[in-house]
Amino acid sequence: MSGRREVVARPDTVLAPELQETEEAEEASLRPKALDDFVGQAELREHLAIVLEAAMQRGQPADHLLFAGPPGLGKTTLAAIVAREMGAGLRVTSGPALLRGGDLASALNDLQPGDVLFVDEIHRLPRPVEEILYSAMEDFALDIVLGKGPTARSVRLPLPRFTLVGATTRTGLVSAPLRDRFGLVARLDYYEPMDLERIIIRSAGIIGVDLGAPAASEIARRSRGTPRIANRLLKRVRDFAQVRHGGNISTEVTRDALALFGVDELGLDKVDRAILEAVCVRFGGRPVGLSTLATALGEEAHTIEEVYEPFLVQQGLLQRTPRGRIPTSASWGHLGLDEPTEQGRLRLA
Ligand SMILES: Nc1ncnc2c1ncn2[C@@H]1O[C@H](COP(=O)(O)OP(=O)(O)OP(=O)(O)O)[C@@H](O)[C@H]1O
Ligand SMILES: [Mg+2]
Repeated sequence: MSGRREVVARPDTVLAPELQETEEAEEASLRPKALDDFVGQAELREHLAIVLEAAMQRGQPADHLLFAGPPGLGKTTLAAIVAREMGAGLRVTSGPALLRGGDLASALNDLQPGDVLFVDEIHRLPRPVEEILYSAMEDFALDIVLGKGPTARSVRLPLPRFTLVGATTRTGLVSAPLRDRFGLVARLDYYEPMDLERIIIRSAGIIGVDLGAPAASEIARRSRGTPRIANRLLKRVRDFAQVRHGGNISTEVTRDALALFGVDELGLDKVDRAILEAVCVRFGGRPVGLSTLATALGEEAHTIEEVYEPFLVQQGLLQRTPRGRIPTSASWGHLGLDEPTEQGRLRLA
């Protein structure tokens, strides 16, 4: 089955525009197109397959779907897969792009029956826009207020039945009324190294890189559980091998390449390590608030919270407490430092 219209969302990147274009084009080419090619997330895949199959048997568009999870785990990929599996058109927009009710109204108005409307970063929808979405999702209708003051009246315009696919990196920020209007809320978890290895081998095949299983497993182990990072590291290893080793990718070359690009044994990069160093050394293991930490590192608070912390927490390298972020024994260990004793801590405080 192929989509009638396919629009590819622009992921956030921090590369120069020319580079961004090629990296984006490459990222798009690595996206699995069918549910069967989507590696890992077995439970989510099973739930989704049932929901889509059932909708198809009934000859209806699928229920609204919300995909939640850290960046780079496959939310945008899944949105495109849903449209394709349903043989439907895909429209792409995002929370921050829908500033006013009119923006949403025109996006909804463009929909053909059965279309998938993908709203990325749905937690960033302004509240008045979100409220318009409620009746669109529930009743497939657009409530518009005409005029102002006592003469104002509301008209209801019917919409075609469609499937809203929302994506969010912050489930906690999706309001309950919005979350409740989704028929399926699916959480994406960090991938197991074995799944990442399969993704890397698949990607290597697509970009024409000859890569053995041991090298793939080395990259997988250091990809922070994230397919986007796995693909990125694969490309950097390819570059390194091409320039320094005539294209030959052995496990050793892979290790050297990852070391050169500042990716350590656990897959932590410079920023991850800077966070650990800050909480351990600079703040001496005492609880530190997110904004203080962000200022100390010269990073945006939300980037730390959404991109870096979830993995550090999942790895047991950082703890979030009501009083602030604190290191764990593993954080000290990973930095090669001795954890201060309780007495040492008191003296420091
Ligand atoms: N299950 C998977 N199997 C194979 N490749 C995957 C899988 N999930 C993600 N990818 C790859 O990872 C890349 C990033 O995925 P995607 O853009 O869908 O993530 P995302 O969750 O939308 O991230 P963001 O929150 O930053 O928008 C894709 O280009 C795709 O190649
Ligand atoms: Mg995305």
